[in-house]
Amino acid sequence: AAPVLTIDGPGGAGKGTISGLVAERLGWHLLDSGALYRLTAQAAVKHNVAVDDELGLARLAEQLDVAFPVEEGQPRTLLEGEDVGQVIRTEQAGERASQVAALPAVRQALLQRQRDFCQAPGLVADGRDMGTVVFPDAALKIFLTASADERARRRHLQLQEAGVNASLSSLLKEIQARDARDTQRSVAPLKPADDAITLDTTRLSIPEVVDRLTELLAQ
Ligand code: C5P
Repeated sequence: AAPVLTIDGPGGAGKGTISGLVAERLGWHLLDSGALYRLTAQAAVKHNVAVDDELGLARLAEQLDVAFPVEEGQPRTLLEGEDVGQVIRTEQAGERASQVAALPAVRQALLQRQRDFCQAPGLVADGRDMGTVVFPDAALKIFLTASADERARRRHLQLQEAGVNASLSSLLKEIQARDARDTQRSVAPLKPADDAITLDTTRLSIPEVVDRLTELLAQ
């Protein structure tokens, strides 16, 4: 099987940015598993499936019609042919994703789809349970963290750059609420795998983290 680098951790720790850069540097495939939960939640909104209808949501997850084409260098996210790249990135969509992600049947329905991303020459897998559940035999497991304050600050900056006004204190509350749900759920709770290396990025720049991960992988 192709080698896998798993990058797990709480929201806002920089997993998405770091995973993308490391995958690009290595020429490996990339799995943004959070997008699959966000897309399942979005499909539920579209098809009027309630957030507590576990079997209905699992069926949606199972049949999810998604594509990640790259057009003119821009990655796009299509749900049933419709571009949902923006709508699934809102904080509200993240909150909904974390609700559907707490349902065991939904996680089970997405398991094989995630494993199918493991192809030569390798895969960088970004999520919450990549090292603990989806790819237990990964070559290298990283648990990326940063303080909640720092994660709220980064998210705030990101939103500002996108022209969105949000208060720092409400972002911090949202981040803490999602952390609590993700770490306390009974199925695949957010936690480092026993053999994961934890990297606190609070005081590290993006290039420093990318360098550190490529060094670790080369060892
Ligand atoms: O990483 P992202 O913020 O896009 O993930 C959205 C939500 O999806 C997370 O808060 C988490 O509840 C869920 N998720 C998960 N397992 C993963 C990836 C994401 O439960 N592997």
